[in-house]
Amino acid sequence: MTFNFKEESIESIHADFEIILIQDKKIEKYTQSQELFKLSNYKGEGVCIDMQNKILYCELKSLDYEDIRLAFANAYKALKKLEIQSVKTRSVVGKCVVNSFNAIIQGFTFGAYEFNKYKKEPSLSKLQNIIISKDEINEKSYSLEEACIGVNYGQVFSNACDFAKNIVNEIPQIYTPAKMAEDALDLGQNDYKITCKIYESDFLEQEKMQAFLAVNRASAHPPKLIHLSYKPKNAKMRVVFVGKGLTYDSGGLSLKPADYMLTMKSDKSGGAAAMAIIKGASELDLDIEVHSIIGATENMIGGNAYKPDDVLISREGVSIEVRNTDAEGRLVLADCLSLAQDLKPDLLIDLATLTGACVVGLGEYTSAIMGNNEDLQNEFYKVSKKSGDLATILHFNPHLKELIKSNIADVSNTSTSRYGGAITAGLFLNSFIREEYKDKWLHLDIAGPAYLEKAWGYHSFGATGAGVRMCLAYLLYLSRNKK
Ligand code: BES
Ligand code: ZN
Ligand code: ZN
Repeated sequence: MTFNFKEESIESIHADFEIILIQDKKIEKYTQSQELFKLSNYKGEGVCIDMQNKILYCELKSLDYEDIRLAFANAYKALKKLEIQSVKTRSVVGKCVVNSFNAIIQGFTFGAYEFNKYKKEPSLSKLQNIIISKDEINEKSYSLEEACIGVNYGQVFSNACDFAKNIVNEIPQIYTPAKMAEDALDLGQNDYKITCKIYESDFLEQEKMQAFLAVNRASAHPPKLIHLSYKPKNAKMRVVFVGKGLTYDSGGLSLKPADYMLTMKSDKSGGAAAMAIIKGASELDLDIEVHSIIGATENMIGGNAYKPDDVLISREGVSIEVRNTDAEGRLVLADCLSLAQDLKPDLLIDLATLTGACVVGLGEYTSAIMGNNEDLQNEFYKVSKKSGDLATILHFNPHLKELIKSNIADVSNTSTSRYGGAITAGLFLNSFIREEYKDKWLHLDIAGPAYLEKAWGYHSFGATGAGVRMCLAYLLYLSRNKK
């Protein structure tokens, strides 16, 4: 899809179709379509197509960014089957010009996303050319320069999300750790500002990453440790992302029931997000050094599988009692977080589809933000709110920490209680964060929103790119606001 912001009036722009946004159900002024509105009983809610005049009427609920995204996603969905190539629309400016244009672009791209490579007749829309006029729906005046910045951000954010979605939606037969490494290497090859290094089992052995290795043991596919870096000159700070890249999570010997195993190809969502974020950061030319470390492996069963009752010595030297092999993500992350701290980050963020408990607690729309630094969490939360990614803060507490104590090792990989599972998982990870990084670390549990079995809002079925937009928005915020 191409986006064209034109400093021209809407009337002077040529396109196959026009989108007209309807606010507050005000449909009276569109005299050319009154008969159609009556016939189709259109009262200004949802969409209405006027084929004769080549206009799509589409409801805009408010000027909030999320409603802007939704309106254009709905508009695209209504038009995508038509034999048209181009569409024009007025611009929409809410509170901030940049964020509004970013939201417009995201609306179109999220509305257009489909993963249909395995269908005999994939629906390929001809509608690829989107033209946005400088004319604003409410005749509001605004900076055209900021509009162009917003369009650029929108394209970068959207492409990053599409990139992550394509990884997550790919099937486990194809998407092995080796494939994930290949995609990471491609990223380094296609983007001259990103370098990629892949580490194999021998490196993991050498680095004593026994927790990560144990998870991989029963898999036919060797593990890959991916390290992507983006190092601009004069970077003002260094941010390290760590992603859970479970290309399949069967649960291991603590095998998942059939219903729960389904969708576990999405357990690589954190890793996919970490890859997408560094891609976005590079395309935005941020003055921040960014690293993404991804632990890629499957969690499978077999004669050599790691077992409940095993004790693993992690890279940090902290011993872990395995009480459930399905709590594998935290084991991989423990070793990856250890390596990540060696990079001396100013900020360390991990992303993971870590717990079913997080989905139970927050629902399927919202990610959890955890950590030890309340100011950092609050700041991140505030920025995330405008990004389109839903998130909320879950606070640690010392009582829950008691629940991951082990009788035989330094820490247990499962809590003794059924309750508070998202936080006890966060606290488990906290046992691998060194004192000097405690306040520089955020843990994002994206288990709820990462993968949808039912489309909602402007998201299609399947992967959503959860975590990508909030992290990119936060990097942009850091770039603009920190010395
Ligand atoms: N990958 C799952 C978490 C998950 C569940 C992600 C649902 C997305 C949707 C994780 O590895 C897992 O299985 N966690 C267990 C931990 C438990 C055994 C302590 C869980 O949440 O049940
Ligand atoms: Zn698991
Ligand atoms: Zn998992």
